[in-house]
Amino acid sequence: MAKLWISSAVLVVHTVLLGSSQALWCNCTTAQCEKTGSQCETDGACMASTSFIDGQEQHIRICITRDKLVPPGQPFYCLGAEGLLNIHCCYTDFCNSIDLKVPSVTSPSGLEGGYGPGGTWGLVELVAVIAGPLFLLCLLLLVGVFLYQYHQRAYNHRQRLEVEDPSCDHLYPAKDRTLQDLIYDLSTSGSGSGLPLFVQRTVARTIVLQEIIGKGRFGEVWRGRWRGGDVAVKIFSSREERSWFREAEIYQTIMLRHENILGFIAADNKDNGTWTQLWLVSDYHEHGSLFDYLNRYSVTTEGMIKLALSAASGLAHLHMEILGTQGKPGIAHRDLKSKNILVKKNCTCAIADLGLAVRHDSATDTIDIAPNQRVGTKRYMAPEVLDETINMRHFDSFKCADIYALGLVYWEIARRCNSGGIHEEYQLPFYELVPSDPSIEEMRKVVCDQKLRPNIPNWWQSYEALRVMGKIMRECWYANGAARLTALRIKKTLSLLSIQEDIKV
Ligand SMILES: *[C@@H]1O[C@H](CO)[C@@H](O)[C@H](O)[C@H]1NC(C)=O
Repeated sequence: MAKLWISSAVLVVHTVLLGSSQALWCNCTTAQCEKTGSQCETDGACMASTSFIDGQEQHIRICITRDKLVPPGQPFYCLGAEGLLNIHCCYTDFCNSIDLKVPSVTSPSGLEGGYGPGGTWGLVELVAVIAGPLFLLCLLLLVGVFLYQYHQRAYNHRQRLEVEDPSCDHLYPAKDRTLQDLIYDLSTSGSGSGLPLFVQRTVARTIVLQEIIGKGRFGEVWRGRWRGGDVAVKIFSSREERSWFREAEIYQTIMLRHENILGFIAADNKDNGTWTQLWLVSDYHEHGSLFDYLNRYSVTTEGMIKLALSAASGLAHLHMEILGTQGKPGIAHRDLKSKNILVKKNCTCAIADLGLAVRHDSATDTIDIAPNQRVGTKRYMAPEVLDETINMRHFDSFKCADIYALGLVYWEIARRCNSGGIHEEYQLPFYELVPSDPSIEEMRKVVCDQKLRPNIPNWWQSYEALRVMGKIMRECWYANGAARLTALRIKKTLSLLSIQEDIKV
């Protein structure tokens, strides 16, 4: 046994020392070597092996290049491979000329002593050579695991001490708390900017994905479970890292939280070694988007007003700049449409998909990103966006473009309103004027050149709620953006209407 250890030590030394040596000649039995007189040249080692193929003893001799001699000292190549029962590596010219016996149980210094270090390696030695280091490795691993656990326990203990500090208690997702508690703490803790990043990560990594609920421009949306509650997880492809980052950034804008804006929970980038998974975790709303909702159901007058008023409230909050340390910048959405608005359980709206939004820095009167290309959904683009006359330097232009889109969303809602037993089928705006997935040019012809807008039926005039909605829409659709209503004005008009119609919102 001792001899064996020495011989493998010698082998190590050989590999290391000869690793840098000049070319080595070996006997070679492969077809390619026939041209060179059954010899090959290598910077690594010579190998001989014997195996039984169809009951025939076959001697194989090959060259092994240096880069294949890993790990150093015990190259896998020299330990045996499937079908190769007896293997011998050596490091002198033509040292693999030997004929190995199969199975060989001869002593290491057996018949071929003198050929390379260790001579022939029998099965028993081979097993010993493999098992010995393996045993040591296991021992090391056990010690390692023990040390790690010990360290972890000490660390957890410290963590717990920190958690008990009441001043930062709300920062930790304690075991027995639900997401709602966490979010509640968050919205009352003052910052309103989102969970601390490490809590976001903890939350995100303990979510169990359940089912895919949608596919978007940037990836997939899943329903996930976290501590007994549902959450929505938007998974971006790693190509869309910028979109992921931008959306997370917007959602974490100070004081953005509002009942009519999708509640953001966490952003996380999981790197699993081969690719990065980008997650945005938000509240889950089982009704899905307003588009899905309107396709499925018609709405009552009360339902219409609730949807319209809540959407206006959300947009007004988004647009509004609040000054002071507890303030928020004005934000324009830039991709408002029924597919980007969610319907909550209480049948109010939550504005989602803030990935294309821009923020206004009022101190310098600038917009936080360069709003270069025409983004958003072509069908919902305001005339000034379609014909590129929009003043990009002026933040209010983007708000006015949002209002135009809101008017279109209102039209989609109002058509589904059940008044006097009549309601229309669901349709997208401009459904009769442009094909599905229209081009900018097709939209521009209709909206800018022909100045067409969705049809407001005459019979809407006979119902107060529909009449008001129709009037708001017209005032959202002016060609001149500055003439359009503001979200706040729409919110006030609809609040009045809801009081008139005796609706509890
Ligand atoms: C290995 O090569 C050497 C040199 O060419 C040759 O003399 C020897 O016979 C070869 N051994 C075998 C087993 O082919």
